[in-house]
Amino acid sequence: MIEFAQITKQFVRDRTPIFALNDVNLTIEQGEIFGIIGESGAGKSTLLRLINGLETPTSGTVTVDGTNLSRVSKTALRKLRLRVGMIFQHFQLIQSRTVADNIAFALKAAGVKRAEFPKRIQELTALVGLEGFETNYPSQLSGGQKQRVGIARALANNPSVLLCDEATSALDPVTTLQILDLLKDLNARLGLTIILITHEIDVVKQICHRVAVMAHGEVVEVASTYAIFSQAKHPVTKHYVDTALQIELPERILRAAPGKIIRLQFTGEKTGESTLSEAIKQFDIAVSILHGKVDYIQDVAFGVLIVSLTGPTLQVNRALTWLEAQLHAIEVIQDVA
Ligand SMILES: Nc1ncnc2c1ncn2[C@@H]1O[C@H](COP(=O)(O)OP(=O)(O)OP(=O)(O)O)[C@@H](O)[C@H]1O
Ligand SMILES: [Mg+2]
Repeated sequence: MIEFAQITKQFVRDRTPIFALNDVNLTIEQGEIFGIIGESGAGKSTLLRLINGLETPTSGTVTVDGTNLSRVSKTALRKLRLRVGMIFQHFQLIQSRTVADNIAFALKAAGVKRAEFPKRIQELTALVGLEGFETNYPSQLSGGQKQRVGIARALANNPSVLLCDEATSALDPVTTLQILDLLKDLNARLGLTIILITHEIDVVKQICHRVAVMAHGEVVEVASTYAIFSQAKHPVTKHYVDTALQIELPERILRAAPGKIIRLQFTGEKTGESTLSEAIKQFDIAVSILHGKVDYIQDVAFGVLIVSLTGPTLQVNRALTWLEAQLHAIEVIQDVA
C-alpha cells in the first residue's frame, strides 16, 4: 500500500542542515494497523506527512497504492490526498461549527453533492458512535467525542488510508482505549489501512499488527508487535519494551546481586518458572528471582524474568546453555566472576 524507498529528508534551520530522515526503507501492507514509535524529534511526523504529500523527500521515493508521488501531477496528487485521511492530537476541529458542519466541511472538500450531505453525515456519525451529537459545538464535547468527530471528518472521503499523528495523546487512558477500539473496528469493518504514530508502547500493544521503531531519523527496527515485545533487538526497542513491562531493575539491586544475572523471556505455553525449576534440579544450581512480569500482547502471554544463577561456574554455564535452548531468549546482563 505504501512504500518508502531510500528516503532522506533534510530541513535547513539557521543555515544548519537538520537530517530529519535518513535512508528510510519501509513497506506498509494494505489493511494493516501499522505503528510508528519513537522519541520526540525522531522523524515520525515527517515520515507520515510524506504519505499525503504535505512534505516531499529530499531524496528517495514514496509510493502510495502504486503511484510514485514524485512523478504525479498536482491534480493527481490532490486526488490521491482524498484517499488519505488524517487525524491529530489536538483534533483540529472548526470551533465555530457544529459536529454536522465540521463533517460537511470535509464532504464539501471531497466534492460530495450537497444533496447527499444529510445521509453521509448520518452514516459517518453512526460509524464513529456520535449519533445525537450532530448539533453540538466542539466546546460541548469531551476529548474522546472530539476525536470521534476528527475521525468522522477524516473518513468523509472514504479514504483507504488513515494517518493518526498522536491521535490519543491528549486523552485519558480509558478514552484512549475507546478510541483505539474504534480504530480497530474501522480497520476490521472497512479494511482501512491505519498508520499510527505514538510515543506510547501501550498504544502499539493494544492495536498494532506491526511496528517500526524510529530513532534519530532512522527506522532501527521493524517487526510484528509480538516480535517487538518478545525479541526486541535494538536498545531503543528494548527500552520501550522494558518500560511497558516495568522491569527496569534498580542499579543498586543489580550491583548487589551475586552470580550471573540473566534476563529470560518466555512466551505462550512454556512458562519461565517451570523451565527454571527444571534447571535447578538438573544442574544443581541456585536461582533467585529478582524481577518478573507476565503480560498479554493482544491475548498472547508473554513474560520476562530477571534472575541470578549461582553455583559452580561449570554448572552455571551448562544451565545457561540449556536454558538458551529451551527459551531462545536469554541475555546475560551481569556476570560477577
Ligand atoms: N518544517 C521544519 N523545518 C525545520 N525542521 C523541521 C521541520 N519539521 C521537522 N523538523 C525537524 O525534523 C526533526 C524530526 O521532526 P518530526 O516532527 O518528524 O519529529 P517527531 O518524531 O514527529 O517528534 P514529536 O514526537 O515531537 O512529534 C526534528 O529535529 C524537527 O525539529
Ligand atoms: Mg510528531
